[in-house]
Amino acid sequence: MIEKRIAEILRSAQPDESVTVKGWVRTKRELKGFSFIEVNDGSSMASLQVVINEDVPDYQELIKKANTGASVEFDGVIVASQGKGQRIEVKAKSILVYGEADPETYPLQKKRHSFEFLRTIGHLRSRTNSFGAVFRVRNACATAIHEFFQQRGFMWVHTPIITGSDCEGAGEMFHVTNFDLNKIPRTKDNAIDYSQDFFAKPTYLTVSGQLEAEVMAMAFSNVYTFGPTFRAENSNTSRHLAEFWMVEPEMAFCDLKEDMDLAEAFLKYIFNYVMEKCPEDMEFFNQRIDNTVLATAENIINNQFERITYTEAVKLLEKADVEFEYPVSWGTDLQSEHERYLCEQLFKKPTIITNYPAQIKAFYMRLDEDEKTVSAMDIVAPKIGEIIGGSQREERLDVLQKRILAQGMKEEELSWYLDLRRFGTVPHAGFGLGFERVVQFMTGMGNIRDVIPFPRTPQSADF
Ligand code: 4AD
Ligand code: MG
Repeated sequence: MIEKRIAEILRSAQPDESVTVKGWVRTKRELKGFSFIEVNDGSSMASLQVVINEDVPDYQELIKKANTGASVEFDGVIVASQGKGQRIEVKAKSILVYGEADPETYPLQKKRHSFEFLRTIGHLRSRTNSFGAVFRVRNACATAIHEFFQQRGFMWVHTPIITGSDCEGAGEMFHVTNFDLNKIPRTKDNAIDYSQDFFAKPTYLTVSGQLEAEVMAMAFSNVYTFGPTFRAENSNTSRHLAEFWMVEPEMAFCDLKEDMDLAEAFLKYIFNYVMEKCPEDMEFFNQRIDNTVLATAENIINNQFERITYTEAVKLLEKADVEFEYPVSWGTDLQSEHERYLCEQLFKKPTIITNYPAQIKAFYMRLDEDEKTVSAMDIVAPKIGEIIGGSQREERLDVLQKRILAQGMKEEELSWYLDLRRFGTVPHAGFGLGFERVVQFMTGMGNIRDVIPFPRTPQSADF
């Protein structure tokens, strides 16, 4: 007997082959003298049909136990299927039931459940068709990301999760401490005495690995970091998580144009890869979740993204015949309704918006000639809004020092970062891709909580 994953059996197994299959029962149909069981092991959308005749040892007792949700093993032989819907099936010679699932209490019975309900059983929802497809696509996206960068000679670097610096300067950080919260040590003037804390200074969960990725890029030229990032922003939307994964490449000797070119090629690569590796799952999303999923993927792969400056975008928005909730004027940040108008109504494709006003962007972005804007770029996508945020970095020591001061940050705390400009500075650039947002974009899933196995959002950190 050869143990095989179900995806492989469905793809290539031939009649008369002996196989061992292990997985969880999706459905069971008991007929006179035999039963059908659909088994799924997570390797594919499709389940494997197993036919069990009543002459299989302990048939009566075992079939009773093999209910939806039970974990099972079958030894058997591949036969050409008589029924519709599958090429082959397995004729069982023996069954083993590892663990039963009581039909009265197992929540995943064969009916459609709402995503809201499934979120309350996050420990079981991965056994459904939808979440099986989401997490296989998520895995393919992650693999595509590594392939893309490795093929181009980028080094994968690991940036810290605990940090002392607020990269985005937005003050949305979770504190990391081992203080007893009922007895926080105080200094004489009643400030928190961080000298007694674990790291002897205030520390946080990182909002971005960028600053440390810049350090590594100044030695290895092209690097990327891919890990969890954390934001304590109280945004209860379908696009925000408090814990999300970010991919951040950083390139030495790179300007904004090259940064955008890489980001565009990167998104195209991920889409192409997933279309190739997960055709069944993508078909499922198109049929069941959002019937524009396949057309969107084609559009991404085959068309150039639109590129406009922030100043042009503001002009277009001012001219637009739409009542926006938030008014637009030069100098204010674009809201998601504005971004969506541009990429959904006007251009109908991902749009790269560049050169934002300096005062609304982070301290590290390179000041443009006009000294009003910075070399920033955001990629906004239909239905999702911002999917990538990036920039060319300020490589000039004096300009960077002024920007740090202007944003009310402390130069001493960033002395290591400024050293990169003191010693062998180079023009460099990078970007951050919100990993869950790309999975959402790809699958058409409406809520970001449904593309990460264990979502963390305001008031919610279950499992
Ligand atoms: O635009 P952001 O804040 O950029 C940075 O953090 C830079 N340091 C990146 C860089 O240049 N290396 O975040 C980057 C991306 C956003 O475009 C968005 O896709 C995603 O991260 N993102 C979130 N995704 C889910 N939930 C949230 N709360 C997110 N905040 C940002
Ligand atoms: Mg951003």
